[in-house]
Order: sequence, then C-alpha cells, then structure tokens
Amino acid sequence: MIVTIDGPAGSGKSTAARKLAARLVVPYLDTGAMYRSIALRVVNLGADVNDAEALVEIARAARLDLDCGPTFTRVKLDGHDVSEAIRAFSVNSVTPYVATNQRIRDLLVEKQRKIGQSLKALVTEGRDQGSVVFPEADVKFVLDASLDKRAQRRHQELLADGEEVSFNQVRDNLDRRDRDDSRQWAPLLQPGQSVRIDTSRMSIAQVVERLVDHISQITGRQS
Ligand code: DC
Repeated sequence: MIVTIDGPAGSGKSTAARKLAARLVVPYLDTGAMYRSIALRVVNLGADVNDAEALVEIARAARLDLDCGPTFTRVKLDGHDVSEAIRAFSVNSVTPYVATNQRIRDLLVEKQRKIGQSLKALVTEGRDQGSVVFPEADVKFVLDASLDKRAQRRHQELLADGEEVSFNQVRDNLDRRDRDDSRQWAPLLQPGQSVRIDTSRMSIAQVVERLVDHISQITGRQS
C-alpha cells in the first residue's frame, strides 16, 4: 500500500508521516531530504545557485542512497551519511533553487518512483507525492495549517535546537518558502483526489489518529 502525505513546511507532515509509517510498520520516505541533499552538495561546492545548468550537473553526478525505515529516512550522499547535515540553516536557503529546477525534479521523481516500486508499501511525504510521483497511490493526504501556526511550530523547534531567531524571522522565511514552493507544487494538487486536513488546532497524536482512521475505513485494516 502506498500512502502519500503532502503539504507545506510546518504543516506537521514529516512527524505525522513518520508516526503513521511506524503504526503501519512500513518504510517512510522523506523526499524533502533528497532535495536538501543536492542543496548540501551545492553549498559544499560553493556553486552559483543561479546557474541552473551547474545545479543539474551537480544533481546528475550526486550518488544518493536512501535507507527508509518505519521511523526514519537516512540519506547517504556519495557514500557519506548526511541525514543531519541537510538540516543546516545554510542548506534551507539553497534548497528552493534546487527544488524549482524542473530537470532536477525529473531526476529525483524518477528515483522516488524506483524506491516506491522496490518497497511496494510505504508512507511517502513531500509536496508532489500524491499528484505527480504516485498518482496511483492507495491513499493521499494533504496536511495544512495557518501560516501563524506553522511559524509558531517551526519557531519552537528552532529555539529547542538553540537557534537564536525571532518569531517574525521564522514567519517571513516560511512565507517566502510558501511562495517559492507554490511555483512548483501548489498548482499540481487536485482537490477532491486527496483527504485534506487542517492541523492548525490539532495535536500530532490527533492528526495521526485521523490518518489511521481514514486508512482503516478504506482498507478495513486494524492498526
Ligand atoms: O519538506 P522539507 O522542508 O524537507 O523540503 C525541503 C525543500 O524541498 C522545500 O523547499 C520543498 C522542497 N520539496 C519539493 O519541492 N518536493 C518534494 N517532494 C519535497 C520537498
């Protein structure tokens, strides 16, 4: 069974996807980690983010290996585990240049489909998983939340990580990312073909229960 969870940054989709995969005991694929890994390589090489051709070459040359478990996706870039390094602040600002490059998207989408074919059952999370990558998925969710709520969640995470950043900086950053992201994925989402959940007033446990309930209803599966 393939379950897709799409949504903007701070919608709670990563945590929900990980917890859902653990409940279903199937691998979890974090596709954002793939875009982040290419961005990390761009940062490390000091490449010009506006040179689309150079970014494509970097993506083509990069060897990405993903290890998907029910509670994690670990990523190796050219043999090195970069699962933590891809979360750095410097990578955040470069990732949109990678993610809005259609040729890089085509490369990574192909890789995601191959992973799906080999795993057969998985929970996959991103922006375009239900719309583009796995249109035949058994269950498609879209999670969303208000900008303020998403900024509040992200701000708390960053404070907990020891980052000195104001709420307004986080809010502005998310707002900008929404606009960058929407150039690629928002028009692709098809209302009516997915279950949409506004997580603004829900705890993560409530979101996971809602996902599990829906899957149980359509498959008759007890989780
Ligand atoms: O979910 P995240 O923050 O780890 O995603 C990192 C970036 O990659 C973000 O700019 C959105 C982009 N992305 C994408 O365009 N398509 C995906 N399937 C997953 C992520």
